[in-house]
Amino acid sequence: MRSAVRAEVFLAALLVSSAHAGPLHAQCRLEWNFGISCYNVYTSLVIQIKLWTSIDNCIKEGGERCLYELQSANEHYIVAKHRNLLHNYVDDLTFKLMSSGAMQSCRVSAFSVSDPWYVMLDNGINYCNLRNLVEGSGLDAVPGFSESTDDFRCTQYSSANCTIY
Ligand SMILES: *[C@@H]1O[C@H](CO)[C@@H](O)[C@H](O)[C@H]1NC(C)=O
Repeated sequence: MRSAVRAEVFLAALLVSSAHAGPLHAQCRLEWNFGISCYNVYTSLVIQIKLWTSIDNCIKEGGERCLYELQSANEHYIVAKHRNLLHNYVDDLTFKLMSSGAMQSCRVSAFSVSDPWYVMLDNGINYCNLRNLVEGSGLDAVPGFSESTDDFRCTQYSSANCTIY
């Protein structure tokens, strides 16, 4: 009985997923470029994650810029979690940092994915998990900053409103 219900839910999930263009499971993969060293990118991201670990900033400002949790970090790889205040589930975040060419340039491959398997549409929450950190830390204003993704790699990217999420 239980497995029959699960199978039906899974089928429904497949049907819903065929109606939108994004990944089957709510997630976001994007690339950032920064005209500063990976060491500076790493410290900025880690400081921002720590600043937003408590719920305080969400109480003050609204939105989802709180409840981040650093799991592990070094200059090449950062792992964190973000608990969504509105839906109360956890998303897993990873940042892969690669120095490119000159030392003063860093390429970051960032990924956010929702823990619960049934989450397919997320209003761009996984995108905002990543985007809010880069904005909060001011990294989006450093020389040479660029961001690259699309709706196929990043669920509901083009309609995301990170003021809310
Ligand atoms: C995003 O949401 C905020 C708060 O509801 C709203 O003021 C703003 O206009 C929205 N932005 C866009 C681009 O829809």
